[in-house]
Amino acid sequence: MRRLSDRYIAGPELADAIDTVRALNEAGRKATLDVLGEEVATADEALAIRAEYEQAMTAIEDEGVDANVSVKLTGLGLKVDPELCAESVRALVEIAAGHGRFVRIDMEDSSTTAATLDLYRELRAEGHLNVGIVLQAMLRRTLDDVGELVELQPNVRVCKGIYVEPADIAYQGDEAVRFNFVETIAALWEGGAKVAVATHDGALVAKALELIRDRGLGLERYEFQLLLGVREELADELVRGGHTVRIYVPYGRKWYEYSLRRLQENPKLAGYVARDVVRHLREPLSR
Ligand code: FDA
Repeated sequence: MRRLSDRYIAGPELADAIDTVRALNEAGRKATLDVLGEEVATADEALAIRAEYEQAMTAIEDEGVDANVSVKLTGLGLKVDPELCAESVRALVEIAAGHGRFVRIDMEDSSTTAATLDLYRELRAEGHLNVGIVLQAMLRRTLDDVGELVELQPNVRVCKGIYVEPADIAYQGDEAVRFNFVETIAALWEGGAKVAVATHDGALVAKALELIRDRGLGLERYEFQLLLGVREELADELVRGGHTVRIYVPYGRKWYEYSLRRLQENPKLAGYVARDVVRHLREPLSR
């Protein structure tokens, strides 16, 4: 598991994450740091994750790297103490604002969607502008959520959605999810939002580029986001094309739980990892 995780996780320590971000910055990419840890069982664990984020934000400034942070609400205690969770996110957003940085609230499984969107709206109502949200194209509700959010001129990461969800709330077929992905980014751009296009799916990247070109969108209206270690050649191509690329960099001591959980939750992921390993094993032979 450790060998499998190496490509996708910066390492157990903050210093590993900063080294990874520095290398990404040198290759023309920005980053967003994710402290591994979700579904904590106690308030103390949630506070420990908040403290890790505070250290990460200090290190980003001290080391002068180009990164922001992505947080998971269940890691900050959403299911243990929602008020503590809200207070922690608010505190992190305020620290980030002091540094001119941004906090992205990741989207987790559908049991958290409404609470996540509510907290985002609350923060925006309080006047915080340096916070963004994620919408999942697989969810049937997503276009309605766009309709309700768009007047805020939000900064939205759009992804397919990694959690396995039931058919009554989520599209199950690849094509339906792709279709909704394109509808979602188009509706967000139409409404004036900034969109982070988070996918490794070449067809979706091509479609997003077409929409960007057709609408004449400037760099302030979009960026592309990829996971660490996945489809690096696609990131290269986008950087060469003059687009902003941000890499999602997970790190932390919970790497084992994270990797195992992702694999158990989403069998599709196990397929990617297996294919990737085989490709890497075969590469030296084909050179
Ligand atoms: P798809 O699954 O079709 O993958 C396209 C190709 O990319 C695959 O054929 C494979 O080659 C490669 N690939 C994709 N994922 C891979 C992996 N993990 N390892 C190896 N190869 C892989 N989800 C969520 O529910 N909430 C969130 O907040 C986020 N946040 C987020 C941030 C960023 C920056 C990214 C890129 C993704 C997310 N996701 C997420 C995950 C997202 O929902 C989705 O599960 C993955 O990005 C995979 O879907 P693709 O759009 O890449 O397409």
